[in-house]
Amino acid sequence: MRVLLVGSGGREHALAWKLTRSPLLTELHAAPGNPGIARLGDCHPVLADDAEAVLALARSLAAELVVVGPEVPLVGGLADVLRTNGVAVFGPGRGAAAIEGSKSFAKAVMRAAGVPTARDLPRPLAPCVLKADGLAAGKGVVVCHTQSEVEAGLSELVDHPGPLVVEELLEGEEVSLFALCDGLDATALPAARDFKRAFDGDAGPNTGGMGSFSPVPGVDSDEVEDLVDRVHRPVLGELARRGMPFVGTLFAGVMLTPSGPRVLEFNCRFGAPETQSLVPVLEGDLLEACAAAAQGSLGARPLPPPKEAAVTVVVTAGRYPADGNHGSEISGVEEAEATGAHVFHAGTALRDGALVTNGGRVLNVTATGSSLAEARAAAYDAVARISFDGARYRTDIAAAASRLGGQLRSDLYT
Ligand code: AMP
Ligand code: GLY
Repeated sequence: MRVLLVGSGGREHALAWKLTRSPLLTELHAAPGNPGIARLGDCHPVLADDAEAVLALARSLAAELVVVGPEVPLVGGLADVLRTNGVAVFGPGRGAAAIEGSKSFAKAVMRAAGVPTARDLPRPLAPCVLKADGLAAGKGVVVCHTQSEVEAGLSELVDHPGPLVVEELLEGEEVSLFALCDGLDATALPAARDFKRAFDGDAGPNTGGMGSFSPVPGVDSDEVEDLVDRVHRPVLGELARRGMPFVGTLFAGVMLTPSGPRVLEFNCRFGAPETQSLVPVLEGDLLEACAAAAQGSLGARPLPPPKEAAVTVVVTAGRYPADGNHGSEISGVEEAEATGAHVFHAGTALRDGALVTNGGRVLNVTATGSSLAEARAAAYDAVARISFDGARYRTDIAAAASRLGGQLRSDLYT
């Protein structure tokens, strides 16, 4: 099968790696890809957000499947442009992608589908969470414990277009739950967790993600299946009823609270950097599953449970998230890979044949092991071999969960 992968980040590099593991793959192409993906397939200088150019490329390659990584082209309708022109695509159309693109749409769908979520509040009074309606690249949510945080949040969000959602502040453990969807049914993937804050101990500003691990202790296949039953499947039913079947990865950010699971948000695509941890432990053929989903024939096809755990540590520019790093030479990638770890590229470029930095989140270092503790030790062993001017990473990714071991948090599933 000839596959065109749309996107250029660490998530897409991880997906590319997994797609190349499939015996069904004959050619892998990427638009635009990155230097890591270029080692696995052919990269084409076509921007993910340029739907007409992606369609033209898919046609010229005679691509049999297009897999779309990022949310912006999906919310913009790339999948519709491809599908109406007869190109098979793994990714939702504009209507269904609004589950990520509009918080108020997501709330309306959850209400209609009976999916548990945070209660809406009539007024912005602390404690509460303020959410801007549209896509905001992770910057549209302010969690407020005090009224002065509410005031600051209101002025921070004042420039966002559309209505503001005010909801109750939930406490608990957060988990990222992904399911491959064919419009009607869902196949669950292993649970994952990400680390959004810039510094150790969850301090500092929110970022695009500083690390992740998968699976999550206590959220094993049975719990994941139960959560997909309560969250993803009702949403799929409701979207199909509205005439906008969801084909692609439906990603629910769920808070496991003492009174049961509550959905915090939906995304219409694979998460980053969760995918970098999820894909290396995923058993089964991802390409076969995505192609079946695109044809509407995936169904609920339970994948074998993961045999290993994975931990991903993101290496960033020194001043990230305020600023990126461009043009500094990167060393140690081969040494890191020689330990058996994956090094998934995010913000890198090639300059005169040398690998250099090109962004805020530069590399994702992922290692697997028979336990989270083993995977974590291997990831940090590999990451220590990588250097560039100002390189920085969190030192506590998966630390607490590794200590938990496989202990079941059954109290969180009441
Ligand atoms: P979102 O963009 O909706 O995923 O929100 C970003 C982050 O804000 C989530 O991953 C949570 O950590 C936090 N968050 C969102 N909604 C709530 C809520 N109702 N209560 C507590 N934290 C929340
Ligand atoms: N890791 C959260 C996201 O991809 O939005």
